[in-house]
Amino acid sequence: MKILGIESSADETAAAVVEDGHRLLSSEVASSLDLHQKYGGIVPEIAARSHIESILPTIEKALEMAGTGWENIDAIAVTRGPGLLGSLLIGLMTARTLSIAKNKPLYGINHVEAHVYANFITDTKLPGYDLNNEAPSFPFLALIVSGGHTQLVLFRGPADYELLGQTVDDAVGEAFDKVAKVIGLPYPGGVSIEKIAPSGDPNFLELPRARMNSAYDFSFSGPKTAVLRAAQKMTGKDFTFPSTGLAALLTDTQRADIAASFQKSAVETLADAAQEAVSRTKPTCLVIAGGVAASRKLREVLSERLDVPLLSPDIKLCTDNAAMIAALGYFKSQAAEADDPYTLTVEPGLSM
Ligand code: KG4
Ligand code: ZN
Repeated sequence: MKILGIESSADETAAAVVEDGHRLLSSEVASSLDLHQKYGGIVPEIAARSHIESILPTIEKALEMAGTGWENIDAIAVTRGPGLLGSLLIGLMTARTLSIAKNKPLYGINHVEAHVYANFITDTKLPGYDLNNEAPSFPFLALIVSGGHTQLVLFRGPADYELLGQTVDDAVGEAFDKVAKVIGLPYPGGVSIEKIAPSGDPNFLELPRARMNSAYDFSFSGPKTAVLRAAQKMTGKDFTFPSTGLAALLTDTQRADIAASFQKSAVETLADAAQEAVSRTKPTCLVIAGGVAASRKLREVLSERLDVPLLSPDIKLCTDNAAMIAALGYFKSQAAEADDPYTLTVEPGLSM
């Protein structure tokens, strides 16, 4: 069964074809990232406009790369939330229209849940993919870490999961992005911080760790503010000095030390919670997903610390893509009725 996935929840317009939930036939991603970079984050209006321009060419490219015409597509899966309202609408309305015009069943997909299903993609003929040898088996634990989400979820079965814990304030990727902005590094912050962290001292700053009610909950706003205060102190300014003026006053060494210290603190916070959850819930494996799962440091620390296998998607399937949407679409198609293409709506605040 070949499913066309469509994703447009943030700044990436993506389309992909996946067969039987695990064979990747194509994955196309058009990003409006460069248009947002000078603002230090995604500008919703710019994102929505660029989805309109890219969505049909991206779908066409995905079909072409998969070597298939519409006649071989069995269903369409599309992100319905969470995400930016304007961005979601472009993908969803396109998918609804195509579902009606091409007479294909339509499945609305939860973007966060789909990140986890990137781990079910185990096979492709496309060059340059480093895929899991086997799909995760249930029950497994998922650490979902992106620009919008930081969650620990226990998956007992395909549609049976329990949210164990989540961030009480900033998502970890969002904290990476904000710290990067303070020290003058480009968006997306996690990538920029990863580049310069190896030349810094990870023990340079001792960042605070919030005491949480649950061992599975996270907080990233404290360490993020501590970075701001430290940068003000390092440049001889007080707490009233605007964060936007700091980057120009920091030296390269100071920037690298801050980057390394924040990366260490964020990765250890995630690893501590994951380790605790693994020891209490005894899953078959830990699966990581979402943009921050691209972090090599996170992968390294988790594999060192855990006594169950760590599964992670190819880096290209960690950040937003449509292959994960198509993969989850397959499992949905096996378990549930298709959605109504005349009434399916977006849900910007959708949660797990
Ligand atoms: O999943 P994603 O592409 O979009 C959302 O759904 O949020 O995640 C984007 C986030 C950004 O905050 C970015 O800074 C972070 O993923 N990110 C990383 C790395 N690559 C991307 N964070 C840490 N280390 C990385 N290598
Ligand atoms: Zn995402």
